[in-house]
Formats: sequence, C-alpha cells, structure tokens
Amino acid sequence: MMENKGRSVSNSDMDAALLASRQRFIDANPKSLQRHQEASASLPGGNTRAVLYYPPFPLTFTGGEGCRVRTLDGQTLIDMVSEYSAGVYGHTDPVIAEAMKAAVDSGLALGGPNTVEAQYAALLVDRFPAYERVRFCNSGTEANIMALSMARAITGRSNIIAMTAGYHGGVLTYVGGGSVLNLPFPVSFATYNDIEGTRAMIRAAGSDLAAVILEPMLGGGGCIPANPEFMQMIREETRRIDALMILDEVMTSRLDYRALHGADGMTPDLVTMGKYLGGGASFGCFGGRADLMDWFDPSRPGAFSHGGTFNNNILSMSAGMAGMTKVLTEEACKAFNDRGDALREQMCETLARHRIAGTVSGRGSLMALHFVLEPVTTPATLDSGNQRHLGLFHVEMLLRGFYVAPRGMIALSLPFGAAEAAEFIAAFDDFLSQNHQYLPTL
Ligand SMILES: Cc1ncc(COP(=O)(O)O)c(C=O)c1O
Repeated sequence: MMENKGRSVSNSDMDAALLASRQRFIDANPKSLQRHQEASASLPGGNTRAVLYYPPFPLTFTGGEGCRVRTLDGQTLIDMVSEYSAGVYGHTDPVIAEAMKAAVDSGLALGGPNTVEAQYAALLVDRFPAYERVRFCNSGTEANIMALSMARAITGRSNIIAMTAGYHGGVLTYVGGGSVLNLPFPVSFATYNDIEGTRAMIRAAGSDLAAVILEPMLGGGGCIPANPEFMQMIREETRRIDALMILDEVMTSRLDYRALHGADGMTPDLVTMGKYLGGGASFGCFGGRADLMDWFDPSRPGAFSHGGTFNNNILSMSAGMAGMTKVLTEEACKAFNDRGDALREQMCETLARHRIAGTVSGRGSLMALHFVLEPVTTPATLDSGNQRHLGLFHVEMLLRGFYVAPRGMIALSLPFGAAEAAEFIAAFDDFLSQNHQYLPTL
C-alpha cells in the first residue's frame, strides 16, 4: 500500500493507471517510437544523454519556437524542461541567433585567442561577485572537475566533502545513490541542510580536507533550497581549516542577475557555472579568488596546465555574451524568476484545493513537484512512492501538451509567460481531478 490518508491506494492500482497512461502515450506517438527503435541500432538504448531517457521511450523533437517544442508526431508542447535549465532564452531568440550567425560568418575554430573571450570574461567578473578571475571550458561537469582538482592541488590535501543527492556532472553524480562511473575522488557525503552533522564532518576531516562542494539549491536532487545558516556554517568551517568552499552554480546562476551567491551574500572561494551562459551552445566556466585562479597563468613558474580545444570557442563566447548583455537584463532576470515564484505558489494552491499531499519546492524559475506530506528540506523526505506518482504526472502532462521532466522538475524559459502559466495550471488541475484516486491525499 502507498502512503495516503483517507484511502488506501494499492501499488497494483497505481501501476495499472501508469500502464494505461503509457499505452495512450505509445498510441499517440508512433513516429517517436519508430525513431527510438531505429536509433537503438547505433546508440545504446537509442540514447546518448541519460537524463533524456524515460519509459516507454522519449519523444523525438523536430524543432522549437519560443517556449514550445514540436514532436515528430506533430504535437506542439509547452516546454517546461528548458534543456534542464540551460534553455533560459527559449528556442528562437533573435539576438542569440544573430550572434551565432555572426560568429559562424567570422570563421570558426581559429586556433588562437579571439576578440570575444576576454570581453566575456570581463563581463562575468563584473557581474558575479565571487569571480575575480574566470576560465572557460565546455561543460558544467568539466568546470567542477577542474575546481575540485585545483582545490586538491593548491591545498595539497586529497579529501572532499559533497552532499548526498548533489549533482555535479556525469562523473560526479551523487544523486540517486551515485554512479559506478564517478571519478575516484575520495568523497565523503554530508546531508544537505544538516548544520550540526555537516559541521562535525568538516571538523573531523580537518587538515585532510581539500574542499566542500555543494549547490546553493540541490537541483537534480529535487530543487531543495539551502538554509542560509547551513551555507554560512560551511563558509566559516572551511575557512577555519583552510579548505576551499566550491559553490556549484551551474544550474542556479540563472536565479539572480548576480547568481545565488551574489543574491544571498555568500563568499565561496570558487564558483562553477555553465548551461545558459553559452547562449545555447556548450559551455562551462570556473572562477573565483585571483590568488587561486592565477595558478593557471601560463607565464607563471609551476603554473597549472588546463587544456581544452573548444574552451574559447567563438560560438559559445558570442552567443553567451549576447544573451547576457542584450537579453537577460537585470529586469528580465527578475521578472522571469518572479514568474517562477508565482507558478510555484499556484501549483501549491492547486494541490491544496484538491487535498493532495504534495508540495512544490524550488526558487524562482526552477522548481520540483513532490508528492510528499512534509515540507521538503532534505533529500531524505523523497521516497520511492514519490517517484511513482511523479511518473504518472510526467506522462499525463505530456499527453496534455506540457513537457515536464520525469522527476517532476520544471525550469522556465524567458518566453514562458502568463498565458502559458494559466494553460499549465488548468492542465495540472485536470490531472489532479482525473487521477485523484492514485495520489496521496491529505
Ligand atoms: C548543478 C549542476 N552541476 C553540474 C552539471 C553538469 O553540467 P553539464 O551537463 O554541462 O556537464 C549540472 C547539469 O545538469 C548541474 O545541474
């Protein structure tokens, strides 16, 4: 039996409901199914990015416009995945498109410094308080690998503390029980927002600890915001033992014009970013205190070597800079995140009206639905029953024309406005009415 109050919902009823929804999905998407089957001949399971797979098969997209994507079977969906938060600008922003076209016309892969990389670096250093210097790379994963590796090299220590359910990249996956493919860093795991437990871990690690790495809101781990006192404790304790505090803002930097560390006055030693900062092209960056980052100055004796063929690629540099200077203005960033806060409230009100035991956690334009009774403050509250209910939510919302992430996560894009929010809330309301009997009730 699943958790509920007024009534018992058997697992088999829930499974039957999910199977029926999936059958409707299969019937509605024959071309996506065929493409998926064909792709499986050359890509393992038809897949080349784990998060994009969901059962029975993922929809194939043929194009997008604004905050909408088109499927191979001809359906148009309102896109609330937004490339897992990287798609801040939507699919067809004209300013980004123009910057990319100009970059292509200027010649690609010139094999030397270009005129845009330093301008973009200066912009990021000006905007994000933690950045005194920055370096570019090609993904958030790479940015975190570099930040952890430099922390170990500079401190001469090996150990790292990370958070259970943290996500820092394809080989730094601590969500969902971790991954056998993770890099073999000696990592110990603390519980997010557990102030005393984490303090004790940092103190016990003492002079063996190179760094603590964490997100200012667990993203892939369920959009769970950090308690400010928790962040403050990590800052103080790491400073006390000369370990580095690495803040992973790959997902959260979109939540404020100055990223979350700027918004909340945090002072990490290093900050990693990525995603939308490449304007839709591949991107990562890591930066922070000048005395740490200057280890990468190649003219300095004993400098760290950091390669990467496409680190300064003109496409990402140009698109990223155009987006940051001309599209994601301070006003646009605030309005966009305010829309997210409003949507989260509306979703919570809708859950309450249906007397469903659920909540929507998150901050600004990033949020996640959870079918649990308690407020979600640590990942421990998210059990497997929640995942099963989210599976139903996911497929049912796809059938209603809304692309949401299978784990219940929603990331808005700039073109997602009041009309789309109203359509989504109406569909969510309908989903809750139609599936009330399968969901945990208050
Ligand atoms: C918090 C966080 N860190 C790192 C990454 C990895 O970034 P990338 O997928 O660009 O390697 C992600 C990606 O989702 C992320 O959410």
